[in-house]
Amino acid sequence: MILSIPKVVVGLWLCTASVAYHFQPDKHDTWKNTRSPSLIDLSEDQNSGSYWSSAFVTATTGQQFLIVHHQFSTICKSSVLDLQTLKYSKHVDHCEITDATRVVTPDYLSITFPNLSIVADVPDKISELQLSAKSPDYSFSLDVEARTSKVLLNGGNGVIAWGPGYSNCSHWSIPAARTSGKLTLGEKKPLTLDPSKSFTWYDHQITNGVPSNFTWFEFHFPDPSIRVSVWAYDWPESSDSWRYATVRLGEETNLVLPYTLSADWDNAWVSPLSGRKFPQSWTLKFENGDYLRVNSVKEDQEAAADITLYTNHRCPWAHRAHIVLAELGIPFKEEIIDLDTPRTPEYLKVNPRGQVPTLSYNGEIITESAIVAQFLADAYPSHLLPSTTDKNGPLVRARIAFFVDAWFSRVQSHYGKVVFAKSDSDAEVSAKDIVAAIAKEVEPLLTGAAPFFGGNEKITLAEVLIGPFILRIFSLSKAGVIPESIAKELPDAAPRFYQWAQAVIQQPAVLSIYNEEKIVESTKNRVAKLRA
Ligand SMILES: *[C@@H]1O[C@H](CO)[C@@H](O)[C@H](O)[C@H]1NC(C)=O
Ligand SMILES: *[C@@H]1O[C@H](CO)[C@@H](O)[C@H](O)[C@H]1NC(C)=O
Ligand SMILES: *[C@@H]1O[C@H](CO)[C@@H](O)[C@H](O)[C@H]1NC(C)=O
Repeated sequence: MILSIPKVVVGLWLCTASVAYHFQPDKHDTWKNTRSPSLIDLSEDQNSGSYWSSAFVTATTGQQFLIVHHQFSTICKSSVLDLQTLKYSKHVDHCEITDATRVVTPDYLSITFPNLSIVADVPDKISELQLSAKSPDYSFSLDVEARTSKVLLNGGNGVIAWGPGYSNCSHWSIPAARTSGKLTLGEKKPLTLDPSKSFTWYDHQITNGVPSNFTWFEFHFPDPSIRVSVWAYDWPESSDSWRYATVRLGEETNLVLPYTLSADWDNAWVSPLSGRKFPQSWTLKFENGDYLRVNSVKEDQEAAADITLYTNHRCPWAHRAHIVLAELGIPFKEEIIDLDTPRTPEYLKVNPRGQVPTLSYNGEIITESAIVAQFLADAYPSHLLPSTTDKNGPLVRARIAFFVDAWFSRVQSHYGKVVFAKSDSDAEVSAKDIVAAIAKEVEPLLTGAAPFFGGNEKITLAEVLIGPFILRIFSLSKAGVIPESIAKELPDAAPRFYQWAQAVIQQPAVLSIYNEEKIVESTKNRVAKLRA
């Protein structure tokens, strides 16, 4: 799968929606292993990290659901999938961990937000977990008796190499804990869950970073003594790619089995939002000849954030946000703000400065184009910008920031003077200045561009931030709206810059919303008005 957003696929054994699934919880005496050791103190591990649960439940009415509950860092999310109708509802909040929202004592843990909570009111912080969440579409509270299911220690002892490099993380699961509780759908009467036909896979992890590309499967089999946690991840900075399954067999046997993964691209679903392709079946082959064929029960499992961009296609600053969204294929809704009339009170509530772009990301408002672009580049790790924790990440980020600063502190003001010149001769003077500034300040920074900044084959945040202005300089100069001498002189005065700029202005993401004719026309009108 080509995924930059972590995607979780839950393997369901039965695939015919009309047949009831057989959800059988474990019946062990404790979650603790008494003979095979873990490398970490799991109760202490509970105090922080990622808390993820998937509950496979049967209501006393016979209806069956998959309920997912996740708290990690600043994300609180939950979802409910009706396993008969495949109706799916989800809810995501931005949530801040503070002393008020997290209470940790030696024998108590609670993380409580208005729409989601996790409480372990037991000395070991694991045996009994209360999970709850609410949204406009549903609410649930689950009593997860983790003491009924022996822990699955990922990698055999609960610690795995997780990147970048060999940095490790803790990861363990309680695969099939007896679960009771209530699920309420919309305005309907609460459903009571049948604990003999419901279980929860509880999953805990503490990491120092995330590989940009991972897939995880959780498997349950007709033989309930087999529970399997299956990982696939690659480390972009090396050629290492890990594919292994940890199988909990019976109670305390944890087998680590390497396998090979192949996706069936002939059976793929294409997201109408992002254009990304998601395979719907996979084959996992193990060394002993065993293989598993996994089919998705639901095509659309794209984990898309709820993004609205308030924008105007004429504005070069807003254009920056479009380049990131297009380059990374991030799905978003768009709202065009009319810049020729006073801003509406509704828009001023969203962004009191009244400018574009404004990004609404899961309800959080982010403004100022450079901050919006940087936020998206950080939120969706990619070739645009290395992470601060990558090898060389801080240095590459500093180089990009300096390059962008050089453009905006040394070149951009001349461009303004060219466009707003009162006469042709004033414009010619500023045109000379812009070419000279590019040759002096920008040209030397493009040593090694191949074709993009820093020797990159794909665009970086530098091209995102400067691209809209490069496009306009060449369009307007070629059309004679600003002096033609700029486009003519640059190939000789700043050859590396010229080559780089030509590559930038041919990038589909850079061109995605650009309407050259309109920009030339409206700038021509503006210049005419100024000179009138
Ligand atoms: C992500 O995984 C897919 C499938 O295994 C692979 O084709 C792709 O190259 C990977 N991408 C990265 C950045 O490792
Ligand atoms: C809780 O959910 C409601 C919608 O159901 C939302 O309006 C509200 O902002 C959420 N609260 C928090 C603190 O995220
Ligand atoms: C693994 O994690 C522990 C605890 O965070 C740390 O002390 C240790 O150095 C790490 N080992 C490696 C190889 O990263």
